[in-house]
Amino acid sequence: MLKNKHIILGITGGIAAYKSASLARLLVKAGAEVQVIMTPSAREFITPLTMSTLTGKPVITEFFTANTGQWNSHVDLGLWADAMVIAPATACTIGKMANGIADNMLVTTYLSAKAPVFVAPAMDLDMMRHPSTVHNIEKLRSYGNYIIEPAEGELASHLIGKGRMEEPENIVRVLTNHFAEKDLTGHHILITAGPTFEKIDPVRFIGNYSSGKMGYAIAEEAASRGARVSLVSGPVDIRVNNPAIELIPVESARQMLDACVALYPQCDCGIMCAAVADYAPDHQATHKIKREHEDVPVIKLVKNPDIAKTLGEMKQPGQLLVGFALETDNEEFNAIEKLRKKNLDMIVLNSLRDAGAGFGTDTNKVTIFTASGRTIATPLKSKTEVAHDVIDTIISIAHEP
Ligand code: C5P
Repeated sequence: MLKNKHIILGITGGIAAYKSASLARLLVKAGAEVQVIMTPSAREFITPLTMSTLTGKPVITEFFTANTGQWNSHVDLGLWADAMVIAPATACTIGKMANGIADNMLVTTYLSAKAPVFVAPAMDLDMMRHPSTVHNIEKLRSYGNYIIEPAEGELASHLIGKGRMEEPENIVRVLTNHFAEKDLTGHHILITAGPTFEKIDPVRFIGNYSSGKMGYAIAEEAASRGARVSLVSGPVDIRVNNPAIELIPVESARQMLDACVALYPQCDCGIMCAAVADYAPDHQATHKIKREHEDVPVIKLVKNPDIAKTLGEMKQPGQLLVGFALETDNEEFNAIEKLRKKNLDMIVLNSLRDAGAGFGTDTNKVTIFTASGRTIATPLKSKTEVAHDVIDTIISIAHEP
């Protein structure tokens, strides 16, 4: 998506400027042409030499080059760019951008830019929540600029809070999504992700190791291609990036089922990625079960509803349903059985026997089986790439005669 795209990378004077080197590297690796513009104080944090070496282009900081008198045209740069990303963006630069204070090359170019502008703030937590910063960021949003929200975590001040610049990989993802082909515009997709937690008592549950990474990657991929996504997710530790994703957090299989049954009739496609617990305790203790009991407590389990199977029974002509199968043996046979029994149009098989596939990893190795009899085997890939393949295959099924 970023191949041959012209990207202006604006760097301002914050400690997170060291991450701009990785960002430039990733953008260049993705095929983009990157022109770095630094504010004068950014040069105190990272050298122009580092940035020009990584991008293969001289860095611009001044309105003109002192020894040659050559003028750096902010107007030409503004027209050249397909996107401008300012990372890190300090409170000072955000304030200047919000109020048109064009006293350096970066803000002047910002005012001339016709392309979309992405702003990745980075600052201390108190600066971040100061009404002045909040107001300025809102102003940038109102100008149509995209704010790449900072993450929570330990800051340079050693305080913990919101203000860490988003990781370069995620900034690249936001840009990639922006340029992605919008072939799912007008479609509504339901996705389940993560584990389910089945309560034993107020402090204990039965759960599993599902990280939710695969389901969230599919949600981001579908949303970046223009779909409206309803993501029904069990408890996981992942943030949603695309505003087209509506997150419906649930805990138990029952709650997941209720949310899915309500949503599926409005959707074109359901993608069942969740690792739903097969069993739940038959009742939940209202108070914490105490260790001092004479007898070891016995937890009686009852079967959980099969969400995919329920949706398979509800499925109407024109709707699609996709399942996942995580198998340890007889993989192909079991996956195709599930495809049939749950009335799926496609199933994505991953084997726990494959290194790098399954729970918690950032990679996956899958084989896709379609109800029409096609088999698509892929090598080990990142979950983002697998998500791309899954969506491509769903689109190809929708076009099958
Ligand atoms: O039967 P099994 O759990 O292996 O099937 C896996 C597929 O079925 C996955 O797509 C999973 O999300 C879905 N599933 C479900 N509800 C269950 C069990 C599995 O939706 N209770």
